[in-house]
Amino acid sequence: MIPREILEEIRYRCDIEDVIGSYVTLKRAGSNRNGLCPFHSEKTPSFTVFPATKSFYCFGCGAGGDVITFIQKIENLDYVGAVEALAKRAGISIPNESVGTRGGVSRRRVLDANLEAAKFFRNCLFDPVIGKAGMAYLTGERRLSTAVIRRFGLGFAPNDFGMLTNYLKKRGFSEEELLAAFLCGRSQKTHQLFDLFRNRVIFPVIDTTGDVVAFGGRVMDDSKPKYLNSSDTPCFKKSRVLFGLNYAKAHAAEQMILCEGYMDTIAMHAAGFENAVATLGTAITPEHARLLSRYTKRVVINYDSDDAGQRAADKAMALLDEVGLEVRVLKLTGAKDADEYIRKFGADAFRRTIEESRTAFDHKLNALLSRFDVSTTEGKIRAARETVSIIAAVPSGVERELYLTAAAEKIGIAKEGLQNDVARARRALAANAAKERGREKNAEAFRFGDRVSPDAAKDPAAANAEETALGLLLLYPEHRAAVKAGKIALSVEDFATDLGRRAFAAMTEMEESDDAFLFARLGETLSPDEMGRLERARRERQSLSNNDEEVLRAAAEFLRTAREKREATARGDWQSEIRRRRAARNQDKQQN
Ligand code: CTP
Ligand code: MN
Repeated sequence: MIPREILEEIRYRCDIEDVIGSYVTLKRAGSNRNGLCPFHSEKTPSFTVFPATKSFYCFGCGAGGDVITFIQKIENLDYVGAVEALAKRAGISIPNESVGTRGGVSRRRVLDANLEAAKFFRNCLFDPVIGKAGMAYLTGERRLSTAVIRRFGLGFAPNDFGMLTNYLKKRGFSEEELLAAFLCGRSQKTHQLFDLFRNRVIFPVIDTTGDVVAFGGRVMDDSKPKYLNSSDTPCFKKSRVLFGLNYAKAHAAEQMILCEGYMDTIAMHAAGFENAVATLGTAITPEHARLLSRYTKRVVINYDSDDAGQRAADKAMALLDEVGLEVRVLKLTGAKDADEYIRKFGADAFRRTIEESRTAFDHKLNALLSRFDVSTTEGKIRAARETVSIIAAVPSGVERELYLTAAAEKIGIAKEGLQNDVARARRALAANAAKERGREKNAEAFRFGDRVSPDAAKDPAAANAEETALGLLLLYPEHRAAVKAGKIALSVEDFATDLGRRAFAAMTEMEESDDAFLFARLGETLSPDEMGRLERARRERQSLSNNDEEVLRAAAEFLRTAREKREATARGDWQSEIRRRRAARNQDKQQN
């Protein structure tokens, strides 16, 4: 358990607006602040920070909680990890015994091991004997300067099964830690640890705070697999890390270049394009897109020119568009990727291709037109049909207008016809969206498919009363006092859902053992999603004018009645079960 003073210190010193403001661009909205939610893709802000309650809530996706919940979610940390991160930020030290008891390997230890490993790999690369082949590959075949090699912290993993393992063990890392860091494996035969990265040049992956979070290792010939990458570890999730972002974030104001690999990124930086980043051997994820949108307004997609690269580019376009980024697509001719292009044609030529990069729409339209022969009527009709569905999906009227003009000209048809079809397609889309919204409303009222509180669907009315009660208790100390004093009868069993029971139990326990209620402490027992639900309960109550004791009393009574009804139903079922069995037995007797 984290000492109460520490949590209060964090609450006091880590201003929620400052902390969240370093991840999300916040704008003033009355006494609150709002911005684009970092936890789901959106173009209009529904994410709000409430300085008065020191909390946040997203009206779009339901994420919410306090500053600790926020750090848990955005940095993918557990409760203790988030508390540690915030304490570090505010210069508060946490006594070791309060965090040391956690099971498994801590993120910090893995980061420490990674840093040591990165030093080891670098020393090997610069060793004239051990690093000879690696250095020859990087400076020769890949034409990298020593300055670039140093800037990216590149290294070399020697062709040996134990050098790194021994090096790290000597520095006090346990076997468990080395396995968790994905630096070592365990041999099935000898049960000994061995180095996972061998005879490869090493690309350390460094996050925006400067920590080494992972490694990629490339073979120096055509053997397979070409790259070995760290799998997910306590400090690394490849779906949310971009290679090169540690440098690119300072050059991202205007636009960023998104490419596919380590070497493309490094080649671009070396040629002066320091706004380049890459995903790590995976397709781009919504998390990557949101990460990019934190740093820039426009992304130029620079994927390989093969079919796989182009399919990946289509997916990237959709994801980047969803977070409101302006998207361009780079088309390289005469080379398969940026690394090769720059080497063949130079940095100036590359700069021109960036300037000539097409808007996402142009790119799609061109790709589409290349599939049809628009000199024939048949081809025109089919091209028009597909174009209509692309344009209809564009939300901005101005953009649609411009695209209509461009598309009509390219296909060689009158704009009016295309315009009518787009209007019709948009009406159909709107009708579908309305139907979908209706379905969602219904599901919400009956609590179907409630991920966070799955048993709410069993008794939706009680689940609502429960949220009312929780909201009131979270907001008002006097209500908590009334329940504690027995002025209002409310007990754990009265709550209708597992989430409600756990939240109420945690609140009660806190008041009894820890002096007083502290919202920040709830995260110790509840998940970040559940914290979001409590924040919702609090927000809903706060937006209403009547929050006096009568409301809480009514909710508590409703909960008790609902509970009695549930228990009666359970008894009823039990009795009808007895009747059913008796009847069956009697029937058996009669038959015999
Ligand atoms: N990749 C991987 N595993 C592989 C192949 C590729 O993880 N077996 C990832 C790497 O992150 C790589 C990216 O996908 O950087 C792009 O792959 P590719 O275009 O094949 O590699 P390049 O980066 O172009 O590497 P090189 O120029 O050295 O061939
Ligand atoms: Mn390449």
